Amino acid sequence: MRLLDKVVMITGAGGDIGSAQCRLFAKEQAKLVITDIKRHRGVKLADEISREGGFALFVDLDVSSESDWEAAVSATLERFRKIDVLVNNAGIYNTEPIQDETAENWDQVLSINSKGAFLGTRAVVEPMRLMKRGSIINVASTTALVGSCRGGAYGASKAALLSLTKHTAIQNAEYGIRANAVIPGPIETDMIAENISDPKSRALSESRVPLGRLGAPLEVAYPILYLASDESSYVTGAELLVDGGLTAQ
Ligand SMILES: NC(=O)c1ccc[n+]([C@@H]2O[C@H](COP(=O)([O-])OP(=O)(O)OC[C@H]3O[C@@H](n4cnc5c(N)ncnc54)[C@H](O)[C@@H]3O)[C@@H](O)[C@H]2O)c1
Repeated sequence: MRLLDKVVMITGAGGDIGSAQCRLFAKEQAKLVITDIKRHRGVKLADEISREGGFALFVDLDVSSESDWEAAVSATLERFRKIDVLVNNAGIYNTEPIQDETAENWDQVLSINSKGAFLGTRAVVEPMRLMKRGSIINVASTTALVGSCRGGAYGASKAALLSLTKHTAIQNAEYGIRANAVIPGPIETDMIAENISDPKSRALSESRVPLGRLGAPLEVAYPILYLASDESSYVTGAELLVDGGLTAQ
């Protein structure tokens, strides 16, 4: 019961890492606010969790939309009167090398991956300040730390999240609000399915990881659970690597 009575809002919650968090947090007695741009996935997940005795509300939310954030936070407060935890988990991936990247695509990736987290942070900080507590968790990526032969916008968007995390932590510490980032390496989800679709590229990805394999969504959900719970009450502004040792070498 590590999240007993905590209201936890998760963006992109219908995706693989998001739904792993939802299922895990429901078992820990959280009241879940499942949000996603893909309504069918979120509704299905909320139904599944409710059927199994958990507590889940689905709210439509495109994280890049200011008005969606206002509506989603209002709906959450109307229902639960508080928000204890926000996980900025929604994201899109891209692998275009910088030389071939379009300005429109760059804007879109940053708009969802980093501006989305900024809008969410700004929207929940006020109700959290009133409660004098809260935990905000941003899901970054090892691409924020190291370069790669593909991509650019994605890594840049995740690097912005790391800075957002530290600024949020410093500006809200006096209000009892903590902000932390998790930094996953390659995790076996829809997002990277194309990258690892043939055995050769899968083997290459695995060979780069000291633990010798890709991570599973639940292996990212557990560190997020720790940061969401009161067990991490003295942890703020931190970056928790969840990468099988990828960036330790
Ligand atoms: N899979 C990996 O290897 C990996 C590695 C590092 C970080 N991450 C990060 O983990 C997070 C979860 O990714 P995942 O692997 O579960 O991918 P996923 O594609 O399964 O899930 C992403 C979710 O985000 C949602 N989403 C996309 N655009 C949105 C928007 N504008 N508003 C709201 N929701 C939106 C999608 O509908 C989807 O449900 C992402 O932030 C991703 O960047 C993933």
